[in-house]
Amino acid sequence: MAARGCAPSWLPLLQLLLAAGVGGAQWSGKGTSQRLQSIFLGRCAEYCSLVSPELRDKNCTAIWEAFKRLLDKDPCSVLPSDYDLFINLSRHSIPRDKSLFWENNHLLVTSYSENTRRFTSLSNVLYGRVADFLSWCRQKHGSGLDYQSCPTSEDCENNPVDSFWKRASIQYSRDSSGVIYVMLNGSEPTGAYPVKGFFADFEIPYLQKDKITRIEIWVMHEIGGTNVESCGEGSVKILEERLQAMGFRSSCIDDYLPVKLLKCVDHSTHSDCALNSAAASTQREVSSLDTEQSASFIIPLLVALASGFQM
Ligand SMILES: *[C@@H]1O[C@H](CO)[C@@H](O)[C@H](O)[C@H]1NC(C)=O
Ligand SMILES: *[C@@H]1O[C@H](CO)[C@@H](O)[C@H](O)[C@H]1NC(C)=O
Ligand SMILES: *[C@@H]1O[C@H](CO)[C@@H](O)[C@H](O)[C@H]1NC(C)=O
Repeated sequence: MAARGCAPSWLPLLQLLLAAGVGGAQWSGKGTSQRLQSIFLGRCAEYCSLVSPELRDKNCTAIWEAFKRLLDKDPCSVLPSDYDLFINLSRHSIPRDKSLFWENNHLLVTSYSENTRRFTSLSNVLYGRVADFLSWCRQKHGSGLDYQSCPTSEDCENNPVDSFWKRASIQYSRDSSGVIYVMLNGSEPTGAYPVKGFFADFEIPYLQKDKITRIEIWVMHEIGGTNVESCGEGSVKILEERLQAMGFRSSCIDDYLPVKLLKCVDHSTHSDCALNSAAASTQREVSSLDTEQSASFIIPLLVALASGFQM
């Protein structure tokens, strides 16, 4: 009797636990970011007021509403074109010679580009900024957001996050002009240039050849890490040949110095970060300063001693 009476009250709890994903996350990607809407709207407001005041007429509420429509769709049925209205409302021009494309370097590109002050990467245009590092998807069975997990390309191709970045990448490429910079990771075990990836599939094909003067590739290696590929090697060579075949003028630089110096901020004592000539001249200055300082200490001492002797 007691057992039978208890059974029905267990059922809703079990369902709740399953819905909460206690039985393991449904998808392989991270779940919807907490406070998605606040972050999105806050970043949009900051971008249009402080970063790029010429965008003051953009309507962040309308941009959010265009984006939010995707949150009603099945998490495996979102197409890049579903973001057309969102892109239409949020897009803006990209300064010439400031485009910075990349693969496997997200955090480095974030610090190097300095929020448009140095370069304007995809994360530094309004439509990329609002979604950078975020995740979002509707529940598979339900109308709310899934905070446990969201699909990646391993789960299904047409997931909300990948489709977003495909659409955003296409727009970013189309609007890029002048010198195009590309930062690759020469320590990435699978190759510096992923032959299938956002850059290869959703950026290169959409570059507007008549607006582009040349393409400069930077292959960065981890300080003290393995040197998997450099310019002219492996997948980097594939990229160089592809760009050449498309009629672009391109060049490649290993460990482009300004970016390497930034990486060295976190490895200042590593021998790869010793500044040859600059360091030597700094040291000379320091040692001559030391000599001056010791002289300025010794001379009064001698004077004091001398006067002591005189007394
Ligand atoms: C911004 O967009 C929202 C939603 O579409 C609309 O209700 C509002 O009137 C717009 N604001 C301005 C200033 O146009
Ligand atoms: C985007 O805006 C243009 C006008 O600037 C309009 O012609 C086009 O239909 C819009 N596209 C979408 C998807 O709203
Ligand atoms: C470059 O790739 C290596 C190997 O995957 C990784 O450990 C490192 O964090 C990457 N560098 C950057 C700046 O993302």
